[in-house]
Amino acid sequence: MTKQILVLPGDGIGPEIVEQAVRVLELLRDESGLDITISQATVGGKAYDETGHPLPEATLAMARQADAILLGAVGGPQYESLDRELRPEQALLGLRSELQLFSNLRPALMYPALTGASSLKPEIVSGLDIMIVRELTGGIYFGSPRGIRTLDNGQREGFNTLVYNEAEIERIAHSAFDIAMKRDKRLCSVDKANVLEVSELWREVVSRVGEEYPEVELSHMYVDNAAMQLVREPKQFDVMVTKNMFGDILSDAAAMLTGSIGMLPSASLDAQGKGMYEPIHGSAPDIAGQGIANPLATILSVAMLLRYTLGESNFADQIERAVEAVLNDGLRTPDISDNGDSIGTVAMGDAVLEKLQQSAN
Ligand code: IPM
Ligand code: MG
Repeated sequence: MTKQILVLPGDGIGPEIVEQAVRVLELLRDESGLDITISQATVGGKAYDETGHPLPEATLAMARQADAILLGAVGGPQYESLDRELRPEQALLGLRSELQLFSNLRPALMYPALTGASSLKPEIVSGLDIMIVRELTGGIYFGSPRGIRTLDNGQREGFNTLVYNEAEIERIAHSAFDIAMKRDKRLCSVDKANVLEVSELWREVVSRVGEEYPEVELSHMYVDNAAMQLVREPKQFDVMVTKNMFGDILSDAAAMLTGSIGMLPSASLDAQGKGMYEPIHGSAPDIAGQGIANPLATILSVAMLLRYTLGESNFADQIERAVEAVLNDGLRTPDISDNGDSIGTVAMGDAVLEKLQQSAN
């Protein structure tokens, strides 16, 4: 059956990088028989400008209809003074929670050709291949009560609630164990069980779910230690699973191990495998419109979309090989260039398309 892909370019460099990723989808549709339709809608700051809301009803309705969503990035300095509920980031949080995209997969993969781009020594990062599974619709991001209140003594107080119930922990644990089964069968659950009750329950439930996966080696680590181990000896990790906010922080650190956040895709999945796919990096307003943004993270997000939602792992492999091949040819956008030579967004898209065409013939 034809699958519907909704494209949400968003703000900043979003439209430029998404354009290249859509060319990849169109090529597979037109020349390799991938059975998809592609539609587009506005989101983020652009949607706010056009409709007064960062996640308009029409966009949300299309997102509910779609089988998969490809998102560029949202946000920009001109929106930072808006009320919280009107800021572009709310579109992301709204899509995640409305569509129950609770399982966020954030790979940190070191491409051999880019080993020199990392700030860590090559021997620490070469061959790095970590998958961070971040819980995305619960925890302190969504817990209530939340707010800022004024106390009797006139002082103001800000408060948020960190809460997870067993069902939420179970489903993200299953997600992480399932992924570990397809990889090196090692799962590290990251928590703060020495201080937080929520983490105590987290650890207990993850361990219980682990009994259903006897082949997976489960370990537990406190989040402060995990942050340290990620920069000390990152290759000790295969799959990591953690709460929403810890995952937010650790995934940025893990991304940077690979040299450029411009290379890394992500998937946010619901229980049925429907997903939203986006590069990990943001909207980079400082370079928007210059044609120099790196489209590879978005192109690799298309590969994840094909693998996780459409079940087309052959096409996913082809895209990943094409990206690796252009890197091996020495092609670099400025963010991953270490010698000053670089090409632009469209030229990088052209190069990936050319490799894909060669592999199809
Ligand atoms: C991310 C981002 C978002 C988050 C922001 C933009 C709301 O940092 O996807 O990691 O905190 O989840
Ligand atoms: Mg983040």
